[in-house]
Amino acid sequence: MKLLFIGDVVGEPGRQMVQDYLPRLKKRFQPQLTIINGENAADGKGINERIYKQFLEWGAQAVTMGNHTWDKRDIFEFIDDAKYLVRPSNLPPETPGTGIIYVKINQHEVAIINLLARTFMMPADDPFREADRLIEEARKRTNLIFIDFHGEATSEKQAFGWYVDGRVSAVVGTHTHTQTADERILPSGTAYISDAGMTGPYEAILGMEREAVIKRFLTNLPVRFEVPKTGKTQLNGVVIDLDPQTGKATSIKRILINDDHPYMD
Ligand SMILES: [Fe+2]
Repeated sequence: MKLLFIGDVVGEPGRQMVQDYLPRLKKRFQPQLTIINGENAADGKGINERIYKQFLEWGAQAVTMGNHTWDKRDIFEFIDDAKYLVRPSNLPPETPGTGIIYVKINQHEVAIINLLARTFMMPADDPFREADRLIEEARKRTNLIFIDFHGEATSEKQAFGWYVDGRVSAVVGTHTHTQTADERILPSGTAYISDAGMTGPYEAILGMEREAVIKRFLTNLPVRFEVPKTGKTQLNGVVIDLDPQTGKATSIKRILINDDHPYMD
């Protein structure tokens, strides 16, 4: 089974890249399952129902989130009806939405989990122990388990990857918006990458207008970060091969599309 994951889609330029390239990526890699991290999809912060539905229409089967899940108020109106939206699971029990979903692909089910890391991040419950709980639950139904681990620190992400190695099919890091080149299959069969990267503005800083970010570093004053409306764009992600019988990964390949790495079909 082949799985395509698209890293943090930032604003309208990111959505445009998904619309432009998803059909080409699907044609080339033939993934049965496409997952998009959509926590930055609306103006760089949060998501709304229209965008969530657009991702499904364009061919995603699941949309994962992160620390920006609640940034657009619209989320509270639709999250409980959004069957394919996965918000971080390690949040208080009263939190709306769900941190695990099951997607049916032919005769197989794939569990898709979203977790928030804790180092340099908003307060959250322990993602390691939450993963133990979710893996135990998921393995009663399937051994195909995908985790979007949303966090800042590569040390925490690597620790998490090794912690769940052999118990899940893949751990894909998100949130830093910078793709790491450490993709590998861990010894017990879990595909791992510290960060899949981002999809959106390329001549920007993590997807935001450069001037504001530089001003912030120069002055320490509060500035408003905005997604640039024009300019070059990029798409980042990974393609993972899974053995549907064992749930183990057999390959992981990075996707990097930008002016410095032009896409060839
Ligand atoms: Fe994030």
